Amino acid sequence: MLARLPLFAAGLVSLANPIRKACKVTRGDVTLTKQLLDSINLDGVEEIHGDLTHYGCDATAIIRCKNFPKGPLEFSSSTLRKVNGSIDFMTYNNLEKLSLPNLSYVWNEFAVQDTASLKEMDLTSLESVSSFELGTTNLEKLHMNGIKELLPESGYTGGIYLNNAGKLDNVDAFFKNPINTSEIPTWTPGKGLLLNPPALRNVRTLNLGLTAMDKLEVWGTNLTIVLGGPETKSISYKEVILHGGVLGIHRADNLEKHVGKFRLDTDHDITDLSLPFDTVDSIALFNSSKLRSLTLPSQAENWKNLSLTISGCGSLRLESKNGADGKKTWYWPKSSMASVNITSNVSTSFFSGAPALVSFWTDISVPVALMYMLL
Ligand SMILES: *[C@@H]1O[C@H](CO)[C@@H](O)[C@H](O)[C@H]1NC(C)=O
Ligand SMILES: *[C@@H]1O[C@H](CO)[C@@H](O)[C@H](O)[C@H]1NC(C)=O
Ligand SMILES: *[C@@H]1O[C@H](CO)[C@@H](O)[C@H](O)[C@H]1NC(C)=O
Ligand SMILES: *[C@@H]1O[C@H](CO)[C@@H](O)[C@H](O)[C@H]1NC(C)=O
Ligand SMILES: *[C@@H]1O[C@H](CO)[C@@H](O)[C@H](O)[C@H]1NC(C)=O
Ligand SMILES: *[C@@H]1O[C@H](CO)[C@@H](O)[C@H](O)[C@H]1NC(C)=O
Ligand SMILES: *[C@@H]1O[C@H](CO)[C@@H](O)[C@H](O)[C@H]1NC(C)=O
Ligand SMILES: *[C@@H]1O[C@H](CO)[C@@H](O)[C@H](O)[C@H]1NC(C)=O
Repeated sequence: MLARLPLFAAGLVSLANPIRKACKVTRGDVTLTKQLLDSINLDGVEEIHGDLTHYGCDATAIIRCKNFPKGPLEFSSSTLRKVNGSIDFMTYNNLEKLSLPNLSYVWNEFAVQDTASLKEMDLTSLESVSSFELGTTNLEKLHMNGIKELLPESGYTGGIYLNNAGKLDNVDAFFKNPINTSEIPTWTPGKGLLLNPPALRNVRTLNLGLTAMDKLEVWGTNLTIVLGGPETKSISYKEVILHGGVLGIHRADNLEKHVGKFRLDTDHDITDLSLPFDTVDSIALFNSSKLRSLTLPSQAENWKNLSLTISGCGSLRLESKNGADGKKTWYWPKSSMASVNITSNVSTSFFSGAPALVSFWTDISVPVALMYMLL
């Protein structure tokens, strides 16, 4: 089948072709040689108890790597189901296709980094990993039904790190399922899902079904975030921070949502923000020069002990109704609020229905910049 198997075996593994056929379960690490010249096919192997790794010649070392692979290369196995160890493919030069359609379980991390030729990954059955890391600039196709479980036991951080998802326009397979990240002891406390500016270049909608998270921090490119995946009943995020290129945050239907702190910072691109939460403890909008309108849902009447801070949003005008269609856009909490500190232009009627102390301000002629604190 293969002209050559440029593998070397560590531990007990030997993957010469005839042995590979007989060897459904291999024990020990499978390490692909640094100067890999050919495609690799591991049909027949079902389980690897050990790590499956390839560390290729990186850019700085390429000069010392003779026999640099011409490619395009493929790494595939239609039978591999389980790797009780890590899969690390780092600087896998000229790898265009990674095809492990039957793989469902990776006990440690699964990392594909600096693999610039990679165009297609078939991880259709992958459900359980300890952590997943992807950094690739040209990926076009991902076949994956979706990660259902982040394994806590192996000591890895239990995260999903998309440093760069290449040209993918949909990464929901990583995030849509109802995983409670608070149940993962190794999920670094206080850290959560951080999607950096280059991570989601071509993604326009991100469906997030993870049920609980310490912190969600996202940059995007014309990105809309939808809270709630197909099987998610409720979510509870402690902190949500939206940055540049995020156009909006919406909720999927039939979902209970709690967000602890919601914060918009300087560089996001949201113009009209409608907060899609059932409950929230704190809302802070800072220096959002593009923001024009803010809508609080009717559930806001039940929000308790809310802290509300708005400053540096020069284009924002707070209204109780939408001027165009007269629809109510602002519901004040009925119970007392922890604090209110708004520096913004407001409409005359904005404070009608506000808690008692706030009403005091309603006779100020507006628009006007207000700054006050409720204790
Ligand atoms: C894939 O795995 C399932 C069990 O998980 C097995 O029944 C099936 O035969 C495997 N497919 C291939 C092509 O090995
Ligand atoms: C994977 O290996 C670890 C030890 O390294 C072991 O505790 C665990 O039970 C193994 N899991 C499976 C599914 O074989
Ligand atoms: C997530 O898990 C934590 C810890 O077990 C639990 O307190 C919390 O209620 C769970 N959240 C959801 C939304 O299931
Ligand atoms: C983002 O949206 C704006 C406004 O619709 C558009 O002008 C711009 O080209 C879009 N950018 C990308 C990268 O799609
Ligand atoms: C908002 O902008 C002002 C003036 O540029 C700056 O002093 C302040 O730190 C900014 N606040 C935040 C929360 O970024
Ligand atoms: C209300 O929120 C403030 C801070 O936001 C907190 O210090 C205080 O304990 C909260 N009070 C109640 C009754 O939850
Ligand atoms: C009120 O609106 C004016 C004109 O649009 C703007 O220049 C000013 O910065 C706004 N004030 C505040 C406090 O946002
Ligand atoms: C209200 O917010 C402004 C701007 O962020 C800040 O400078 C001021 O100290 C705050 N006031 C109180 C009482 O917290």
